[in-house]
Parts: sequence; C-alpha cells; structure tokens
Amino acid sequence: MDHYAPLRARTIALVGLMGVGKSSVGRRLANALDLPFRDTDAEVETAAGRAIPEIFATLGEPAFREGERRVIARLLDQPPHVLATGGGAFINPETRALIKAKAVSVWLRADLEVLARRIGRKDNRPLLAGKDPLAVLKLQAAERYAIYADADVSVETGDTAHHVTVDLVIKALQAHLERTAR
Ligand code: S3P
Repeated sequence: MDHYAPLRARTIALVGLMGVGKSSVGRRLANALDLPFRDTDAEVETAAGRAIPEIFATLGEPAFREGERRVIARLLDQPPHVLATGGGAFINPETRALIKAKAVSVWLRADLEVLARRIGRKDNRPLLAGKDPLAVLKLQAAERYAIYADADVSVETGDTAHHVTVDLVIKALQAHLERTAR
C-alpha cells in the first residue's frame, strides 16, 4: 500500500523565516513523496529576469511582494507539488489566503540563533544587507510568528539534519490529515 498517497492530494506549502530550510527541506520532502518541487524565490527571479537583491533595489519590496503573489497564484493552480515560499510570502494577506485555500501549509520553526548562523554566510537576502541577522530575525519573529501560526501544521525542526526534518514534516502532515478526515 502507498502510505504517502494521501499526502499527494494537495500542494504542500512550506512557510517560515529565512534560513529555516524551506528550500532544502522542501526539495528532500518532494523527493521522499515523489512530488515535483517549486521554489517561489526562484520562480520570481525567473519571471522578473533578475535576482532578488536586484528586484528589491530597482523595483522595491512592494513590487517584489506583488510578483511573489502572482507567481504563487500561478503555482497553486498547478498539480500538487511541494512549494517552498519566501519568508514574507505568507505574511501578505492575499498570498496567505491563496495558500490557505489551495494548499496544506507547514510552518517550519527553529531557534533564531540557529537561523542567524545559517543565513549569516550568504549575501542573497536584501532584508539582511548591512544588518545583524539575529536582530533582523528577532524583529521578524515578533511581527510574523502570530501569522505563521495560522499555517495548518507547525514543525519545530531544531538544529537537525534536513532529512530528520523531512521525517518530522511527514509525520506532522499525516497527523493533520487524520485529524481533518474525522
Ligand atoms: C524574505 C525572504 C526571502 C526572500 C526575500 C524576502 C522575507 O526568502 O523571499 O529576500 O521577507 O523573509 P527565504 O525565506 O527563502 O530566504
């Protein structure tokens, strides 16, 4: 019997702060469930023909959010897949409503210190440019956690390897499906 078949019925959207592993966990989760994988940041970059820092610098954050909303609306009309969203996507009310209506949403969480360590090494995130990553994450957590909490499922990942998180996400999704099927 294919235990994962019920998990393939709807798109699984991963939400949460920068650095929590939405893309790396998402890719592995898609692999484990034999679903396609999509990444909204990458799709926005393709649609705009430029990288995210450049979109922020030349068009501004509101234009990025609008592009993100359009891209997610388009992806959510595609057959079920695993969708890694950018950290701010679920915070936009319209984008959040789309995700809630058409996908199962999973909030990935980890200690802010862990996230800060992971993202400190990269320079592809305009919201961090020239700033202390931990300070930005603390502000974002204060603003966003109450909204991420609206996701269907929440998974505390800790500082573990991504394949461990994938198992936790699958178990949490199975529990969610059992709860909602009743
Ligand atoms: C953002 C997160 C980024 C990217 C953009 C803005 C945010 O995605 O969409 O830099 O507002 O948290 P990741 O969460 O994949 O880093």
